[in-house]
Amino acid sequence: MGKIVLNQVTKSFGDTQVIPPLDLTIEDGEFTVFVGPSGCGKSTLLRLIAGLEDVSSGSIEIAGREATQLKPAQRELAMVFQSYALYPHMSVRKNIAFPLKMAKMDKAEIDRRVESAADILNLTDYLERRPGQLSGGQRQRVAIGRAIVREPSAFLFDEPLSNLDAALRVGMRLEISELHKRLSTTMIYVTHDQVEAMTMATKIVVLRAGVIEQVGSPLELYNTPRNRFVAGFIGSPKMNFIEGALAAEHDAHCIGIRPEHIDVSATEGSIQGTINVSEHLGSDTFFHVNCEALNTTLTVRVDGEVGFNRGDTVFLTPKSDLIHRFDEQGLRL
Ligand SMILES: Nc1ncnc2c1ncn2[C@@H]1O[C@H](COP(=O)(O)OP(=O)(O)OP(=O)(O)O)[C@@H](O)[C@H]1O
Ligand SMILES: [Mg+2]
Repeated sequence: MGKIVLNQVTKSFGDTQVIPPLDLTIEDGEFTVFVGPSGCGKSTLLRLIAGLEDVSSGSIEIAGREATQLKPAQRELAMVFQSYALYPHMSVRKNIAFPLKMAKMDKAEIDRRVESAADILNLTDYLERRPGQLSGGQRQRVAIGRAIVREPSAFLFDEPLSNLDAALRVGMRLEISELHKRLSTTMIYVTHDQVEAMTMATKIVVLRAGVIEQVGSPLELYNTPRNRFVAGFIGSPKMNFIEGALAAEHDAHCIGIRPEHIDVSATEGSIQGTINVSEHLGSDTFFHVNCEALNTTLTVRVDGEVGFNRGDTVFLTPKSDLIHRFDEQGLRL
């Protein structure tokens, strides 16, 4: 039972309110990802849930219990950070067992839990090694192992993979998703990484300046962003925004069109432009096209290799049924 409910929670540091009154319900077993620009309050929110910071007002309920006044250890949550402090002089086994030993758990039960966690995380062959003899990904798994053995009602991850190189991140991302499937424990995960958010989350919470802009499944946010902020934040490369006459034709103040929803042709299309930059990745190609009539540059993404280059004149056609429309306030029409 790992349902977490935040009710009118606020947080101020001195005179500065970083979280205005916020309501959020995270259902048991959900994989919730917090995203938003740097400084928007993601870590603060996680620390409030963990009890590492006190709320300024409001209440937090964890697994059916009123938890606002509980100490971190009483909340039965496990937090995994970006920088995981392992004890260098202890074996992997002892590192993973550490929180249970501190809790004076029975030795046989500690062994059972450590071995089960090592099995889940593919660390069985490394239990007698020290952290210095492990790769970065293996060390991160030990940190997760230390969280798993506590059998928490929820896991809280604050950018746990951002210290790892790109290939390792992909591997760990899959492992954490796999772990979530196996344990079915509630997870809250903070990340800057679009792909992590889209692929791991059952629910994404988009934050701006401490305010929840939208909550939804990854594809809900991608397909029907509630406002320009969410539209611009979810999706990579970013959605193109066009104001002026073209938007007016669509009866909107602003229209948004994702780079992957624009057709590009050498001969015909509704918007003429010149390629400023072309990026050929093999799997896909990105064009940054200067469109003089619109007084803007549009980003276009096409599948596979497409042989246009810098300086070429091209014609762009947005897929009309995939255009997003926004009013003066930036709200979806
Ligand atoms: N202990 C503190 N004292 C004063 N201000 C703080 C404190 N901790 C955080 N803040 C402020 O609260 C705001 C939210 O910070 P927070 O660390 O939650 O952001 P974040 O979304 O996690 O950012 P990032 O993506 O950069 O990690 C920031 O403006 C930050 O400066
Ligand atoms: Mg942070």
